[in-house]
Amino acid sequence: MSKALVLCYSFEGFTLQMANFIKEALQIEVIEIKPLNELKTKGFYKYIWGGRQVVLKKKPELSPLDVDFDLYDTIFIGSPIWAGTYAPPIRTLLEDGMLKGKKIAYFYTHEGGASKAASRAKQTIEIHNKFIGSLSILNKVALLDQNKDEIIAWSKSMLEV
Ligand SMILES: Cc1cc2nc3c(=O)[nH]c(=O)nc-3n(C[C@H](O)[C@H](O)[C@H](O)COP(=O)(O)O)c2cc1C
Repeated sequence: MSKALVLCYSFEGFTLQMANFIKEALQIEVIEIKPLNELKTKGFYKYIWGGRQVVLKKKPELSPLDVDFDLYDTIFIGSPIWAGTYAPPIRTLLEDGMLKGKKIAYFYTHEGGASKAASRAKQTIEIHNKFIGSLSILNKVALLDQNKDEIIAWSKSMLEV
């Protein structure tokens, strides 16, 4: 079986919650990716600030990650959807070659506006790595149990790829 790890960016905690379901199901580690300069407000301004970063294809500098990627062959990457795609810290992670030659399983959380999210991520993942699958998760409190079952089943299936 593959040796796997979860890397997750989460601005408001929902994607991290999904990451923790994978952690629990597969007994693997979750490492949070954090930009050095994170926005402090969770108010409406976040949409302007975040949307701008996406449109400008910003690659924020990340806090150092204390992990030896050589130990892993499958990496689950989790992101919220911002302006229709992965959040900027994921761009830094995928474009700057921190991960190379890995099998990447991508999960993303959103509020219903993510129709092109998987194909956009696949394109970026495949610069340096192999895309093995994705899972779209709707952010709705009422769906949490359903989300949990779905993400556990999906994460187990990704280890068979
Ligand atoms: C800057 C910003 C942009 C967003 N853009 C979208 C979007 O384009 N489509 C969508 O469905 N949700 C969008 N959302 C909502 C988040 O994707 C959703 O709430 C997500 O589950 C949050 O995950 P988190 O709690 O891990 O940060 C946006 C949220 C933020 C803060």
